[in-house]
Amino acid sequence: MQNVALMTPTARALFGRAHAAARDALAPLEARDRQVFLIRLERWFQNLVDGLESVYGRRDDFDEVVVGLVAQLALQYVRRPESLKVLDLERDLSPDWFQREQMVGYVCYVERFAGTLEGVLDKIDYLEELGVSYVHLMYVLRPREGENDGGYAIADYLDVDPRLGGIDDVDRVCAALRERGMSVCVDLVLNHCADTHAWARAAAAGDERYRDYFYTFETRDEPDAYERTLPEVFPDFAPGNFTWVESMRRWVWTTFNAYQWDLNWSNPAVFREVVHIMGELANRGVEVMRMDAVAFMWKRLGTDCQNQPEVHDLLQALRACAKIATAAVAHKAEAIVSPSDLIHYFGTGRRFGKVANLAYHNSLMVQFWSSLASRDTRLMTHTLRAFPPTPPSIAWGCYIRSHDDIGWAVTDEDAAAVGLSGSGHRSFLSDFYSGQFPGSHARGAVFQYNPATGDRRISGSFASLAGLEAALEARDEALVQLAIERILLGHALICGFGGVPLLYMGDEIGLRNDYGYLRDPDHATDNRWLHRPAMDWEAVARRRLVGSVEQRLFEGLRAILRARKRTPQLHATYPTEVLDVHPHVFVTLRRHPLGPTLALYNLTESYQSVPTAVLHEHGLAQAFDQLDQRFVDTAGEYLHLRPYQRLWLV
Ligand code: GLC
Repeated sequence: MQNVALMTPTARALFGRAHAAARDALAPLEARDRQVFLIRLERWFQNLVDGLESVYGRRDDFDEVVVGLVAQLALQYVRRPESLKVLDLERDLSPDWFQREQMVGYVCYVERFAGTLEGVLDKIDYLEELGVSYVHLMYVLRPREGENDGGYAIADYLDVDPRLGGIDDVDRVCAALRERGMSVCVDLVLNHCADTHAWARAAAAGDERYRDYFYTFETRDEPDAYERTLPEVFPDFAPGNFTWVESMRRWVWTTFNAYQWDLNWSNPAVFREVVHIMGELANRGVEVMRMDAVAFMWKRLGTDCQNQPEVHDLLQALRACAKIATAAVAHKAEAIVSPSDLIHYFGTGRRFGKVANLAYHNSLMVQFWSSLASRDTRLMTHTLRAFPPTPPSIAWGCYIRSHDDIGWAVTDEDAAAVGLSGSGHRSFLSDFYSGQFPGSHARGAVFQYNPATGDRRISGSFASLAGLEAALEARDEALVQLAIERILLGHALICGFGGVPLLYMGDEIGLRNDYGYLRDPDHATDNRWLHRPAMDWEAVARRRLVGSVEQRLFEGLRAILRARKRTPQLHATYPTEVLDVHPHVFVTLRRHPLGPTLALYNLTESYQSVPTAVLHEHGLAQAFDQLDQRFVDTAGEYLHLRPYQRLWLV
């Protein structure tokens, strides 16, 4: 009972009751099994109570909320399949499993990758060939019919889209992938559900219990008051943050599309529902929950209603629930917010290391594209150097493209620090990537132009934004080669940064923009479908054709992944330092007991020379490049990098 002694008075006062409730629920299990749960409960109870207390602590029924929740977790554990309980123990022993250099993520739409969930089983060899150990399957849980924001408007969290199969297929796919060393990640859309979800239907039909699952208003007074400080996520096709629902005769909070109703997390019933869903999915074998749009989960008048401290408390409490009942599971926060806000998703202050295990490194992605366009790494270096330190128990999700648009998250202050105008640079990037800037190699499209702020986000596939589409059209081999090098540079950056690389489906073979989305009425208004092409398996087959674009990309990426896996210095527990040594070369340093690793990335199509003094200074008088598997010459005054060359020196 060591942990009880360390608890705060609130937690200690509640622990006895919670423990008793758990014991009752665990009755069907054998003594040792019960004990495992109770040990975990004691270990994580404080985190749970702290998270819940700051959100629900002032309620009269707070104690009941906590005790009821613990009983619910115990029941989840009772239902947890034996094989997953073994996995839990394994993860208890290796809590760094997702931080390891062996981790390689792959992100795909089930339907666009394999047709159905069962179809995924046929693609496991392919994923293994690539070297993947973590698969984020998108568009799994049953979305609403018709428009559904690419599957992010969920009508039933405990069912799958019937076109993809049945819910039991989730178990089958998870088990098959796990067998081959791959963890499944699915989206848990936390901020909102579809207007056709049973909760929303009940609310719309006048059921008060369910009306309290949402934020609804009789008049425009409150919505108007909130709107004064609220930004718009989809200003183009879903302006405003509230939607009038005639059947209810009320306004509903809808941050995203009108058919995505924001959940009211100030109601503990919502919390319990989500814990139930999380537990069910975890018991089917899902190992990573990608918690969607978390920044928006708490509303506060007079703010932009993003990144409120209560969000971090809620996430801490959800995290504790998983550690107690389904210990193998990791949480990834999808918060595409500024660096100073982002860091809280890993936990800062009293929540240090207690919130999410993984979060997207949006800045790394944005800065890659920014430097690639400007041929200048100063803004990238400045911005990433200023990142606050992260807890040693987390990992960044490092990515170059996702299924979403790219928003130019460059602050005016960071831009000014390197002599740029923030709005000017953001505007340049939109021009460059929509192909309007003279000489741009990129083929992209403007997403959600916001006349009020001037923001123009960008859609487009990795390959098209990196110049491959234009180069192939021009039938210019030199340009094709440059585009390939840019793509491999991006892959190397996310693989060498020290987080989990998240490869987006098709980027391993350079899939270009898909203009066919315009013919689908459910997609035509949302040009993010430009970069969500169906997997082209004929193109995949060309990975064996020596000299083809696909082969050069696929083998190039595989070589990077092999290098990653033999570089223990890339374990995510060690911090990544960014060095300010060159205006065109991005340089990171990772200090590790095995010795330092210096990664250099030439973001330009010119040769660049980096003083070898930098290497000497960091103990790399002799330096071996993990990527090319050879020693580099450090004797001269300069180390010369080829266009877009990358080096991982150890
Ligand atoms: C996340 C998803 C995005 C979706 C939004 C609303 O940002 O990645 O595709 O539109 O949440 O659910």
